[in-house]
Amino acid sequence: MKASGLSFRAAVIFAMLGMTWGIVMAISEDHAAMPAHAHLNLLGWVSLFLFGLFYRLHPALEASRLALAQVALWIAATAILTTGVGLITAGQHAGDPIAGVGAFLALADMALFAALVFGRHADAASAAISPAVAAE
Ligand code: HEM
Repeated sequence: MKASGLSFRAAVIFAMLGMTWGIVMAISEDHAAMPAHAHLNLLGWVSLFLFGLFYRLHPALEASRLALAQVALWIAATAILTTGVGLITAGQHAGDPIAGVGAFLALADMALFAALVFGRHADAASAAISPAVAAE
């Protein structure tokens, strides 16, 4: 599977989980888990979907194993961070280190994505596909 395909698939799954969690919060009138819900939606749905769009615009780049690893790591970081934040909002201090690990994983993975964005590989791939994208 390519990086964009994995991004889009995981994004819609996270979106359904995040929206379900939002509906549960609304019905129960208990918004305590709001930070976990927000992170699940923004890291899991919005960010992953944006990664997918980027890789679709850079087909040569997404063929690399590094791109697939970047998306896979983001999925893991989202799951870990959201679990940790969810435990914290439930009053469980065990969530602190879990959220910490998830946060540093997400940051490290964003650094990997930055390296891919700034890398020469991305420019070369863009030039081959579309002059408009390459001129960015
Ligand atoms: C079925 C869909 C959704 C429902 C029912 C829902 C429900 C909620 C509820 C009840 C809150 C707590 C509000 C408060 O206590 O002030 C909340 C907060 C939030 N939600 Fe959702 N949500 C949904 C989808 C989404 C999506 C798709 C995103 C992001 C793409 C999102 C992002 C957020 C954010 C960032 C907050 C925190 C807002 C703040 O800081 O005041 N939600 N949501």
